[in-house]
Amino acid sequence: EGFGEKLLKHNNKIFPYFATDLLKIKSFRTRSDDVFVIAYPKSGTTWTEEIVWLIQNNLDFEKASSVAHSDRVVFLEEKPLVQNDFFEPPRVFKSHLTFDYLPQNIEKNSKIIYVMRNPKDMLVSYFHFVKWIKGFSFVGEFSVILDHFIQNRIIYGNWCEHVNQFFENTKVLFLTFEDLLDSPIETIKKIACFLGKELTDDQTQKLVDFTSFKKMKKNSSFFFQKADDSKQQNQLDLFFRKGEIGDWINYFNEEMSSKLEDKLSKELNPSIQIKYFSSK
Ligand code: A3P
Repeated sequence: EGFGEKLLKHNNKIFPYFATDLLKIKSFRTRSDDVFVIAYPKSGTTWTEEIVWLIQNNLDFEKASSVAHSDRVVFLEEKPLVQNDFFEPPRVFKSHLTFDYLPQNIEKNSKIIYVMRNPKDMLVSYFHFVKWIKGFSFVGEFSVILDHFIQNRIIYGNWCEHVNQFFENTKVLFLTFEDLLDSPIETIKKIACFLGKELTDDQTQKLVDFTSFKKMKKNSSFFFQKADDSKQQNQLDLFFRKGEIGDWINYFNEEMSSKLEDKLSKELNPSIQIKYFSSK
């Protein structure tokens, strides 16, 4: 409801219109040096991918400015995975899928970094995204999106299950958008350590600067394909929309807030609730 294009459906879950090769992903062969950045959409996936790609590629800022981000980091469910060796290691992947759809040997074989964002801010970001992206062409109020979320009729299924699954997997490095924004140095060091790399203070600071909201918004490597030049900055402005914590306050009334919080209190792993949402 509200979406102009047909979304895909599998096992009662809804997927974006572009995930047409969804079931092929399971048989994709991973390598032990692969890194997967996984998040529910609009939770800081792209930001984390950029940090991870730079750490994996010895802070090659020049390449990160000149080669399209989508040619550096492969979006698993968007690119048809016919061949395994379509780009050189060290490979960085992104996905919004849960383990039941991800490559079979991913858990055993590869490094997985998960990013969670406060679902209220995530939903506001998602609302703007699905209105803007032609393939989704969503028309409707924010409250419709919230209802989809509550009833698990949102893409990639139940948000709580999504987050729980990765939080409960001890191999996964679990991060939050809020940590990245509030303590970027610490969080980036944590990521580097997880990837087995050491960064000097100077390198860490450079990485923080390069991946700041302002800089990423100006990095043409994020230009969306096929738009003419005049449209491209506009596209970037829409994708790098606000990059803040707390924009939800402009969209949720008290009733909407308590509807969402009620879902979290019933379905979200209590440890996540205590650790991340008890004071909010
Ligand atoms: P907003 O719409 O709230 O601005 P994803 O990459 O998972 O689709 O997430 C997109 C969200 O992350 C958008 O949120 C976007 O602005 C934000 N974002 C992307 N890069 C960022 C950065 N370097 N710093 C802060 N926020 C960033």
